[in-house]
Parts: sequence; structure tokens; C-alpha cells
Amino acid sequence: MEMKRNPTKLLLWLMFLSDTVPFTYEKSMREQAIKLMQDTRLIDGHNDFVLRLRIFYQNRLSKVNLKEINKTHTNLAKLEAGYVGAQFWSVYVLCSAQNKDAVRLTLEQIDIVKRMCNSYEELELVTTSQGISDSKKIACLIGIEGGHSIDSSLATLRMYYDLGVRYMTLTHSCNTPWSESSSKGIHNFYPSVTGLTAFGQKRNRGIIMVTFNADVLACGRKVANISTLADHFDYIKKIAGPESIGIGGDYDGVERFPEGLEDVSKYPSLIEELLRRGWNEIELKAVLRENFLRVFREVEKVRNSSGLMDVGESEILHKEVQNSCRLDLHNYRIETISSFGFSSVAQSFSLTLVIVAYLILYYES
Ligand SMILES: *[C@@H]1O[C@H](CO)[C@@H](O)[C@H](O)[C@H]1NC(C)=O
Ligand SMILES: *[C@@H]1O[C@H](CO)[C@@H](O)[C@H](O)[C@H]1NC(C)=O
Ligand SMILES: *[C@@H]1O[C@H](CO)[C@@H](O)[C@H](O)[C@H]1NC(C)=O
Repeated sequence: MEMKRNPTKLLLWLMFLSDTVPFTYEKSMREQAIKLMQDTRLIDGHNDFVLRLRIFYQNRLSKVNLKEINKTHTNLAKLEAGYVGAQFWSVYVLCSAQNKDAVRLTLEQIDIVKRMCNSYEELELVTTSQGISDSKKIACLIGIEGGHSIDSSLATLRMYYDLGVRYMTLTHSCNTPWSESSSKGIHNFYPSVTGLTAFGQKRNRGIIMVTFNADVLACGRKVANISTLADHFDYIKKIAGPESIGIGGDYDGVERFPEGLEDVSKYPSLIEELLRRGWNEIELKAVLRENFLRVFREVEKVRNSSGLMDVGESEILHKEVQNSCRLDLHNYRIETISSFGFSSVAQSFSLTLVIVAYLILYYES
């Protein structure tokens, strides 16, 4: 029997195929990415939203509704839409605060993260890997961006830990007295420091949490899109393995993000692209969440075995950090201390009198 060809019908079929096949393919990839992220919610390692809260609102939470704030890459609705299960909030302060008020500014940023996460029911502060696993909300964690925040003091680092901080990057765009930044020509702090000094050395078996910063990804070229970012994932996977990769978007830390990844609701688009490139579900779950949890648990194990306060008492040499904002108490003369002691006793005595007088007046009025 001879098949009759109907050109119109064939054309219609071709049009149908060319429209629907890629469409259903795309759609199923999207659905697969979303399904994956619903099961394995993202732990994002880096978001600078609270710096925006300082700049726009002077850290006054009462002035803003975080569910729908629009002039940032981040709000609570977008975090939900991006299937973010845990977020490290960066308590970043600018390198220009080094040797000035970097420690105070860092403390104020820790304060805003805590207030933010305690005042929205969508958020929950946690400090442990178990806390992330148990949380039914968006778990909040705190990370420090740049070693300048500790002012070369391990005691300060320990106290940040006590406040809930769970990571610190070694440098931002400035050298510290103990560690060299890869950013050159932005600041002129400690130009002779190279690599890590003995004070700065730490052991490592960590992960790379890839930034979405378009200027970093595209090396200054204009166009960066999802493919540019996915190329970086492919490359890191090739040289370090999928078990070494995580995500640290850096939203609200820079202005330019790849096309298609403009805010924190867009993470599924990256996962979709990686699926399309042949990444399997086990690898993607590792990238989204499991790699970070593995590293975090290993760190906790070390902490458990060594004891937090058993970290040694080494100090950086005073001559390496000397500046006019630092008081040197190493060679303080004892007579000076005793006269200081006397005057501070006198001062606290008069302060007590003032407080007592105030309380009497208050209760009598
Ligand atoms: C955010 O943007 C949407 C539309 O783009 C607008 O309807 C809404 O009022 C804005 N919300 C705020 C708090 O500015
Ligand atoms: C990204 O841009 C490149 C170069 O213009 C293009 O070939 C590629 O298809 C784009 N990728 C996406 C996901 O749009
Ligand atoms: C570390 O110790 C705490 C407290 O004893 C415990 O709850 C936690 O499971 C331990 N973590 C690891 C990774 O061993």
C-alpha cells in the first residue's frame, strides 16, 4: 500500500515537534531541578544582605519589611523561591576599617544578623551542622569576611565564635599583618606580607563555595550568563572533584550577576543548567548541601576532640601590628598602672554616686 504524503500535515508535525520537544525537555529539566532542591535545600555560604541593611537603614530593622524589600537581591520571599534552606550571613565590614573600628563594626553586624533572625518566623539562628539538619526554617549562620575583622587577635576570634560565628575568610581585598590577599592595588596594607605567615597558617580539607559575582566569573568581560557560571562548576569539578564544591552566591555583595541569576530566587536555574550538562543527582545534592555538611561536621569533630579553649595562647608580635590605634600594654610601667588603678577607683565611686542620686530622684518623682 502506498503511503500518501500530506505536506501540510508533515509541516504541522515538524512545527509541533520543533516547538514541543525542546519545550517538554526544558520543562522536565526545570521540574527535576526543583524536585531536587525541594529534597535537598541549598546551604549558601555567602550573602552580604546585612551590609545593605546598614547602608540603607543604619541597621534599623523597624524601618523595613524583609519579606518584600525590593532594592536588594535578597528578601524572604526570594529565599523561599530559591529553595534556600540555610544561609551564611556575612558580617562583612570594609577593609578601610582595618586598624580603625573593624571590630566594633563586625560586632554591630553580628548584632543585626541575630536581631533579624530572631524577629522573623521564617528564619532561625543555628550554630551547628545538626542545627541546619533539624531546622524547618531558613537556618541562619554567621560568617566573617576578611581577617581584618579580628585585628590580629585570636582571643577576638574566639569571642566571635562564642557569639555564633562559624567561619572567617582569611582576607578580603586587603592584606592583614598575617595573610596576603589576592586582590592587588585596592589597598596598601602590609604590602610585604606574602602568603600566610606562621601566625596565619591553618590546615585545610575544605570546599570551594563558588561566587556568582559576574565580574569575577567573566574576568571583566561584559557578558556573563548561566553558561559562564556553569563553566566554572565544570572546571572545578574536573580539577577538584564534585565533592569539593559548594555555592556561595555573594548576593548583595556586588552589583553585577550573570544574566538569569539576578537574585536569590534564581538558584534553580543553575541546577537546571548543570543537569543539562550531565551532572547527576548525587553530585548536585553534594554541591547543594552535603559537601558543606561533611566539612562542617569534620570541623566540629576537631573542635570536640581538642576543646575550644585549648587553642594555644600565641600572639602576633606587637611590632608587626603596631599602629596609633593600638595600646601596647606589654611594657606598661607598674607605677602608671597603680595611678591608673587609683583614678579608676575614684571614677567608679563617683559614677556610683551619680547613679544612686539618679535612682533617688527617679523614685521620688
Ligand atoms: C516590590 O515590587 C513590587 C513590584 O515590582 C511592588 O508591587 C511592591 O509594592 C514592591 N514592594 C516594596 C516593599 O517596595
Ligand atoms: C550565554 O552567552 C553565550 C555567549 O553569548 C551564549 O553562547 C550562550 O548560549 C548563553 N547561555 C545561556 C544559558 O543563555
Ligand atoms: C560534638 O559534641 C557535641 C556536644 O557533645 C555533640 O552534640 C555533637 O554531636 C558532636 N559533634 C560531632 C560532629 O562529633
